[in-house]
Amino acid sequence: MCPLFFTPLLICVFDHQITPLNIIKEYMQEKPMFVVRIARVVEPPLGEISLETEALIRSIKEQSEKVLTLKGILSPDVLAILDQIEEPGRLADLVASNLKLKIEEAQKILETFHPLQRLKKVNEFLSKEVQVSTMQAKIQSQAREEMSKTQREYFLREQLKAIKTELGEIDEKAQEINELREKIKKAKMPPDVEKEANKQLSRLEQMHPESAEATIVRTYLDWLVELPWSVSTVDNLDIKKAELVLDEDHYDLEKVKERVLEYLGVRKLKEKMKGPILCFVGPPGVGKTSLGKSIARALGRKFTRISLGGIRDEAEIRGHRRTYIGSLPGRILQGLKNAGSNNPVFMLDEIDKVGIDFRGDPSAALLEALDPEQNFAFSDHYLNVPFDLSKVMFITTANILDPVPPALKDRMEVLSLPGYTSEEKLKIAQQFLFPRQLEENGITKEQLSISDEAILRIISQYTKEAGVRNLEREFASICRKVARKIAEDEKGPFPVTNLNLHKYLGPPKFLPEEELEVNEIGVATGLAWTSVGGEILHVETTTMKGKGNLTLTGHLGDVMKESAQAALSYARSKSKELDLDPDFYEKLDVHIHVPAGAIPKDGPSAGVTMAASLISALGRIPVRKDVAMTGEITLRGRVLPIGGLKEKTLAALRANVKDIIMPEQNKKDLEDIPKYIRRKVNFIFVKNMDDILKVALVPEKAQISSATTKEEPGEKKGRPEGLPISLPV
Ligand SMILES: Nc1ncnc2c1ncn2[C@@H]1O[C@H](COP(=O)(O)OP(=O)(O)OP(=O)(O)O)[C@@H](O)[C@H]1O
Ligand SMILES: [Mg+2]
Repeated sequence: MCPLFFTPLLICVFDHQITPLNIIKEYMQEKPMFVVRIARVVEPPLGEISLETEALIRSIKEQSEKVLTLKGILSPDVLAILDQIEEPGRLADLVASNLKLKIEEAQKILETFHPLQRLKKVNEFLSKEVQVSTMQAKIQSQAREEMSKTQREYFLREQLKAIKTELGEIDEKAQEINELREKIKKAKMPPDVEKEANKQLSRLEQMHPESAEATIVRTYLDWLVELPWSVSTVDNLDIKKAELVLDEDHYDLEKVKERVLEYLGVRKLKEKMKGPILCFVGPPGVGKTSLGKSIARALGRKFTRISLGGIRDEAEIRGHRRTYIGSLPGRILQGLKNAGSNNPVFMLDEIDKVGIDFRGDPSAALLEALDPEQNFAFSDHYLNVPFDLSKVMFITTANILDPVPPALKDRMEVLSLPGYTSEEKLKIAQQFLFPRQLEENGITKEQLSISDEAILRIISQYTKEAGVRNLEREFASICRKVARKIAEDEKGPFPVTNLNLHKYLGPPKFLPEEELEVNEIGVATGLAWTSVGGEILHVETTTMKGKGNLTLTGHLGDVMKESAQAALSYARSKSKELDLDPDFYEKLDVHIHVPAGAIPKDGPSAGVTMAASLISALGRIPVRKDVAMTGEITLRGRVLPIGGLKEKTLAALRANVKDIIMPEQNKKDLEDIPKYIRRKVNFIFVKNMDDILKVALVPEKAQISSATTKEEPGEKKGRPEGLPISLPV
């Protein structure tokens, strides 16, 4: 082979044996071809091979070997050729011709006629080549290391795939994609949602099945296909049957049952109606949650329930965005997935216990879900596609309505379940609670029976509640004891009566609410309403020599303290009309105490009671012990309406108080109280404080009670003891 370099200077031929080296001396003709005059190059003789030459030759041979090894092209033949060459010039030319030099570099070598010089130059280039080749090999080996792991996995996976296909097994990924595609079709999503689902599916198809992103997409698709986009249950439109079911589960609660049956009635006439949003408000254990379940049963719908108690994060309701690791849809959609239909009875329990903090306001998210005008396209952050909630029947429950934000309250139809009277509890116990406990404990009614008196005694002396949860717990306790006896082969039957009740339940836990023995000065009976029902309170006032200080005790809240201040100001401003010492606030200290001292109390409804107690103490006129009162007082003595009428009435009845003074504006709420209770009590409706004083203060000789201190002789300038109080008309 003859490598030729066409340059203006040289035409060189490197085969010493065939053609000697020539130089172009002159161009004689250019066209049609080059004709040149050449001069033969005679290589200068080298003479004896010196030590330096020998060293150079060895160095070049070694370095050539190294380069060839690094490049992976070293073979025994090449080695043999290299070994044979002893002539420095030839060696230089052979190595240079294989070095892939740049043209200028090659030219330089060609222009060097002296073999030793040439050898030196080649040696330089060769050293450089060794360095470059070493570096190149290093880079390559690094890249190879990185590549080899993924390549290995890829090859193995491909092999596995091939083996599986060979064995007739289908590729897992393809199978999964096919299954998801089927599920998307079956879910019958709205067109927009289906489009999104298919988009995500094709993304999943292109992903590595084990990648983190693929897991996210897979979970998302699983959620999408499992939501009941088009699954609805068929409503039971037979109103009679629904009524039967409702009565079967709960005693009374007529108002709520009626509302549900009305809904059914409208639903029968109009198929596409918006689901109502009801809110059951009442003390614990009155059956709010269990009524929700019963409504679902009566309507033939699925029931699902989420508890909102303690939820502080908006994302709990509406989900986290998919960008967050481990994100999920909100509880509303989780509830719907559990229900498996898009028209369930959905209970949002304890809506009054939703909290607000820096993570957002969950009730704001509820606003959207509970608004019939916008919940047909409820948007969950995780899902990112709208879901239609308009067919869902939402029922929320709360113990008290005050903490519920007004905007939320406004969206709901509030139905109150105010608590039960002893008679109602007796009926519930006989028809529901006792039989249920018998069954749960595996006892027959022949083995264990309970008398009505015993039940009433449990109600009054072993429980103190508006609902029936503790009552049921007491029955459970009796049943367990009897179950043990039966298991120990004791012979029954075991009748529980008023007389042997303590053997099962121990001594009574609560004594009947005490009725005052006598009419006392400075002690007025008030009615309070707590989240566990109604209570009676005996507000005590005493006066002492002093400088007009007002002391309030009994763990009173700010509102109640202000009520007491208002009552005092009222008494001062009306001291003349009320026949009180006009300077009492300069000479006396007043102390108002509301038992039970350890329980925090608040609210304005004890205003009139505190005023009555105060005026009684200042005027030295006793308050009637058989009158209970409730109402907010204003500075001018007007009496404003209060809440919890039924609970308060029940509390008065329990304490054997028959006359109840109520604000005039509460007259409209009488309807909530069953007729048979109304018959037992005497409601006195009042507009202002004067009306109350007329009824509550007894114009009789005062009986000095322990709650008041004895007056210093000559201290009182007001109306003489025992004379009727003069009241303004
Ligand atoms: N009118 C009723 N008839 C039959 N059972 C009743 C009635 N009211 C309540 N119960 C029973 O009382 C128990 C407690 O009721 P539930 O759990 O529904 O109370 P709740 O009002 O939801 O209380 P909370 O506010 O504490 O959640 C249930 O077992 C329920 O069946
Ligand atoms: Mg409940």
